[in-house]
Parts: sequence; structure tokens; C-alpha cells
Amino acid sequence: MPGDEIGGQPVIRKTDDFETIRRLALEAGLEDGTFENIISAVGFFIGNQMMGTVALKKDGDRYSIEWLSVSESLRGKGIGGMLVSRIESEAKARGASTLWALARAPKFFEKIGFRMTSLDEAGGPSMSNCLLCRQYQKNCFPSIVSKNI
Ligand SMILES: CC(C)(COP(=O)(O)OP(=O)(O)OC[C@H]1O[C@@H](n2cnc3c(N)ncnc32)[C@H](O)[C@@H]1OP(=O)(O)O)[C@@H](O)C(=O)NCCC(=O)NCCS
Repeated sequence: MPGDEIGGQPVIRKTDDFETIRRLALEAGLEDGTFENIISAVGFFIGNQMMGTVALKKDGDRYSIEWLSVSESLRGKGIGGMLVSRIESEAKARGASTLWALARAPKFFEKIGFRMTSLDEAGGPSMSNCLLCRQYQKNCFPSIVSKNI
């Protein structure tokens, strides 16, 4: 279809294409979820093709990262870090002072300036949904991470 080809300058921009966000995340092995409380999302685009994505969730005063994924063929090139940095700016502009993630790849988050937190740290997300997830402690060993922004 014209306009669907891969090509053009890579760009990170806002998107509300939740269908593609979900597809990328599932292809990356993440569990399915909802878009409840998602207040912003960005995609890494090459031409019209979204090849990476991340979303910002707001629960009360807590801002957290959701749906982070980069297409396998493009990993290790800094795209994940750029996506998080973009959503971090977005959170900051909305008044956030801390950004959280229930991280499936905690080492990645540490590399980009997040720190591991203890389970009971005030203000952080709950791990309760993980306990119901079929991937938990099988092929997913999540940690709660945060960054002061
Ligand atoms: C996690 C993910 C988004 C990282 O994207 P990426 O574009 O490969 O990340 P970057 O290239 O920006 O990596 C930044 C740094 O983190 C490191 N890193 C990336 N993924 C890592 C991982 N899974 N474990 C450990 N370190 C990792 C990179 O080596 C790089 O380190 P360097 O600066 O020393 O070279 C990507 O691997 C992915 O989509 N994984 C599957 C889905 C997933 O786990 N999402 C996270 C949900 S919380």
C-alpha cells in the first residue's frame, strides 16, 4: 500500500495508535494489558512504520512507564533509551518529580539512570498484577525501578 513502505527519516513522535502499540509489545513478549490511565504515548517511526513505543501512565500522583518495546531488529541502538527520555520529558512537563516502572528489563533501566527500589517504597506501583501473570518468575523477573526527574 502506498505510504506503508519502510523508509524515510527516523522520528520519535506522539501517537494514539494503540493497536500497533499493543502489537509491538506482544511481539516483544510483553503480556497484554489495558490502556486505562495512559495519558500519552510515543512511537519510534521509520516512515509510517512504528518500530518502537512507550507510554506514560498516571495513577493519582504516580507517573509510570508502560508498553515499552523496540522491534527486535533495532535493539541495542539506543532507541529504547531515547523513547524513555522522551516520555520522561513529557512526565516532567506535566509536573512529575518521579518516574516509575515495573521493569521486565531492570538492567536496561539501570543503564539509563533508574535505580532499583524496594517493594514497599512509598508511592511506587504494586507488583500484585504480576502475581497473576503466567510469565511471572518463569520468563519474567520484574523489579520496580524509579528515577527522580
Ligand atoms: C528493553 C528494550 C526496550 C531496550 O531497547 P533498546 O533499544 O535495545 O535499548 P538501548 O539500545 O537504548 O539500550 C540502552 C542500554 O541498555 C542496555 N540494555 C538494553 N536492553 C537490555 C536488557 N534487556 N538487559 C540488559 N541491558 C539492556 C543496552 O545494552 C544499552 O547499554 P549500553 O549503553 O552500555 O550500550 C528492548 O530490549 C525490548 O523491547 N525488549 C523486549 C520488551 C521489554 O522487555 N520491554 C521492557 C518492559 S519493562
